Amino acid sequence: MPKSFSDRIIVWQREHGRHGLPWQATRDPYRVWLSEIMLQQTQVTTVLDYYPRFLVRFRDVATLAAAPEGDVMGLWSGLGYYSRARNLHRCAKEVVSRFGGYFPPSAELLETLPGIGRSTAAAIAAFCFGERAAILDGNVKRVLTRYLGVADDLAVSAHERMLWQRAEGLLPVARPRENMPIYTQGLMDLGATVCTLRRPTCLVCPLSSDCEAKREGEPERYPVKTRRLKRSRLDLWLLHAVNSEGHVWLAPRPAPGIWAGLHCLPTFDSREELMASLPSEARERSSEHPPFVHVLTHRDLHLHVVTASGVDSLFRAGADQTGGWFGQPQWDVLGLPAPVRRFLESSLNSPPVPDAAAG
Ligand code: ADE
Repeated sequence: MPKSFSDRIIVWQREHGRHGLPWQATRDPYRVWLSEIMLQQTQVTTVLDYYPRFLVRFRDVATLAAAPEGDVMGLWSGLGYYSRARNLHRCAKEVVSRFGGYFPPSAELLETLPGIGRSTAAAIAAFCFGERAAILDGNVKRVLTRYLGVADDLAVSAHERMLWQRAEGLLPVARPRENMPIYTQGLMDLGATVCTLRRPTCLVCPLSSDCEAKREGEPERYPVKTRRLKRSRLDLWLLHAVNSEGHVWLAPRPAPGIWAGLHCLPTFDSREELMASLPSEARERSSEHPPFVHVLTHRDLHLHVVTASGVDSLFRAGADQTGGWFGQPQWDVLGLPAPVRRFLESSLNSPPVPDAAAG
């Protein structure tokens, strides 16, 4: 009799899966949770850099809960998708206030916490407590739709619900405490390294003998998408205000909205609006940089930066304004949107010469 789906995943993980990642050496829910949140939408190699630094600064959930939000955003800076960092902080506070500082030991309760969706809750419960809970992130959806030959559009919630049920039906039955962590990691690893979006290597896949997509001969057709999201474009004008010390005005972005909570250059919807905010002599000495594009998940941001120097009196740090003048060493510890950080760093190599245009 051929081995079951879960047996094949487990045997394959032991031999060919990823081992030795820092979050695999523990069943501490804090460490596993942190890694799972970081690994959403972020490459393992990037997380390997951020994860240990985060743990040095925030050694446990109580330390994270007690930290100022700015410290959390600062350490997250560069990882992107900043709603993850805000939810991480909110989640830590709830673990302390609702559960006495201990993560609840079931997927059902974990899912009630901020930033923990159904798949992440299942991953934490499987890794830490050996719970028989199914994960279904993007990679696993690909593995399962191919293996099962599910050609339904998963953007339709009834279809997605159906796939969750099928995923639950494939879970290992025997010795869950031992098997669930290996099985869960195995599914993730197979999706990341073998059953890839393009050019899957079916030749080395433990599921290929009865994979429906392989049998049909075109595995890349799965998962099938019928609805298409239209990309949109957003133009933003950013004021790069520099004072006489060479410091730049940065203020936290309001929530909700783009880059909420991150420190940013003042932002305007149009060039006219930006220019209207400047005194006339600063306007005359201002210089506009070539626009650059920053690609978000569903949107292309076209960013237009205007530098205005010697505008010390334009902004004042004070009770009513939460922003401040920040020099380069402080940029490193502030949470900044990635394109703003890139712009500021490049401006150091080619400092603006505001009077150049005037001769
Ligand atoms: N992606 C999401 N969770 C992961 C994990 N535990 N190991 C590697 N990649 C992952």
